[in-house]
Amino acid sequence: MCGIVGYIGASQAAPILLDGLGKLEYRGYDSAGIAVFDGEEIQLKKATGRLKVLSELTHDGATMPGTAGIGHTRWATHGSPSDTNAHPHCSKGNGIAVVHNGIIENYLKVKKKLTNKGYEFLSETDTEVIAHLLDYYYKGDPLEAIIKVLHRVEGSYALGIMFKDHPDQIYAVRKDSPLIVGKGEEGNLIASDVPAVLKYTRDVYFIQNEEIALLTREHITFFNMDCEEIAKESVTIEWDINAAEKGGYEHFMLKEMYEQPATVRDTLNPRLKKGKIVIEELGMTPEEIQNIRKIHIVACGSAYHTGVTAKYVFEGMARIPVEVDLASEFRYRNPILEEWDLVLIISQSGETADSLAALREAKSRGVKTLGIVNVVGSSIAREADKVMYTWAGPEIAVATTKAYSAQLIAQYLLAIHFAQVRGTITEKEAGSLLNDLKRLPDQIELLLANKGKIQKFANRYIAARDVFFIGRGVDYAISLEGSLKLKEISYIHSEAYAAGELKHGTISLIEEGTLVAAVATQEDLYKKTISNILEVRTRGAFVLAVTNEGNTEIEKAADYVIYLPQTSSYFTNSLAIIPLQLFSYYVAVGRGCDVDKPRNLAKSVTVE
Ligand code: G6P
Repeated sequence: MCGIVGYIGASQAAPILLDGLGKLEYRGYDSAGIAVFDGEEIQLKKATGRLKVLSELTHDGATMPGTAGIGHTRWATHGSPSDTNAHPHCSKGNGIAVVHNGIIENYLKVKKKLTNKGYEFLSETDTEVIAHLLDYYYKGDPLEAIIKVLHRVEGSYALGIMFKDHPDQIYAVRKDSPLIVGKGEEGNLIASDVPAVLKYTRDVYFIQNEEIALLTREHITFFNMDCEEIAKESVTIEWDINAAEKGGYEHFMLKEMYEQPATVRDTLNPRLKKGKIVIEELGMTPEEIQNIRKIHIVACGSAYHTGVTAKYVFEGMARIPVEVDLASEFRYRNPILEEWDLVLIISQSGETADSLAALREAKSRGVKTLGIVNVVGSSIAREADKVMYTWAGPEIAVATTKAYSAQLIAQYLLAIHFAQVRGTITEKEAGSLLNDLKRLPDQIELLLANKGKIQKFANRYIAARDVFFIGRGVDYAISLEGSLKLKEISYIHSEAYAAGELKHGTISLIEEGTLVAAVATQEDLYKKTISNILEVRTRGAFVLAVTNEGNTEIEKAADYVIYLPQTSSYFTNSLAIIPLQLFSYYVAVGRGCDVDKPRNLAKSVTVE
């Protein structure tokens, strides 16, 4: 987490830094700071709270002269959010300024050594050791000092560094935390993520682990840890710049929910050729697909929930056993991986620390890995054996919506493809599944158009204390995501339960008026879910049911019903999630929550 920017060029740096940080606030937003060289000194401004506090303090950067600087928006790990703990951190007399994303794991040891040598620490952060250690090693050559520091520190980092003695230079380096370099017409930039530089350039370099970038106004040079210059190719970013703007919507989350029909089309259409699924990037022969012994789906958060859905789809359609793991568990549980296993790593950002570590764990065991990733050129995209992109474009709201939908589509496509190759579905069945997939975008549009009804319903629940989500099979997977969406943005306690499991404890929490959202889209399980609805309703629950068109019988059991257009039972998640996203959104808006930036969360979790 945390967002880093840096700029060196012809224009005033501070407004550009603040603008870039604004695009990165999704990475952390408990405090922010910038350091700018004003011609004589490195000047610092830091502020606790959202970026707007810092913007107000500096009149949108106008009060900070200078054309080279670095900036940071923080998600606290070491030390509470405060002005002192905010970045940049500096060596004595502001000789060296540093912004950091990641964790320096051996910082206590380094701190002790530096304290013994007389260095004084002002903050509680791990980052401050970098500033002092740089000072300790600095003998006039910044590159040499940086390399010595990198040999000394352990952990993950993306760093932006300025030296007062070299005001016409900015340095950047990374290990296991993202960092890009942008080559602009009127200056060069560093940033944690592409949206921060898109306004100034589309020419971007992805820095690899332990590569160091040196930026001046006109040039960008890269070095390895042996101080040797290395050649790198830039990549042209195709993203539409408006994709990272709100475009008239009240929140990014609402805009991104409305982008879901397009996202589904964009993820689907490039893989459909003459009515057949063609996933070129998969690079697997039919024999290899036939030989798959087991699929391991590994991810975090909502991406993990898409994996829970996909388990039902892969197993049902292609008859391949699937294990779904939280990446933070998978990486440490010594998983059993065998030669013909396939590991799918699902990640919007492609930078989630646990997912990346899980990918490396799988690769080190020699199994084939496939990343399903949204951010082009991200670490998981680069390191996985193969990558299948979800073409959702930049997602800014912390709570994912459109990337989630795209991840589902990518996995449906894989499942149908595997099932066809393995002969577990007929060509006719495959054709009908594809037709259903192609209808999803229009059906999602229809559900979104119905937002008024859900908004009205949501307004009745803004004071709810607990909400439960229940379902069976794929509906259980939907419940997991529905519950997460609600709790993360509205701060209402919510839980998802497999409907059949309720009686083993959770039902004791049902009281008069408790809201239970029951998802019942699986025709073969429908009657059983109705029984579970009746069980909670008898105990006083108010039941919101989400089911398929035509299942009107449910009206006898539930208090309020949302109907979904007809699709294959494998794909109902793509439709059922829409009213649940809208419900969470309107509850959170009704409660006055900061929907796009919920407290304590960050979009890209780059620490474990
Ligand atoms: C964070 C986000 C979630 C996301 C999860 C995994 O918790 O708030 O929305 O699902 O990380 O992120 P990834 O980028 O790996 O999909």
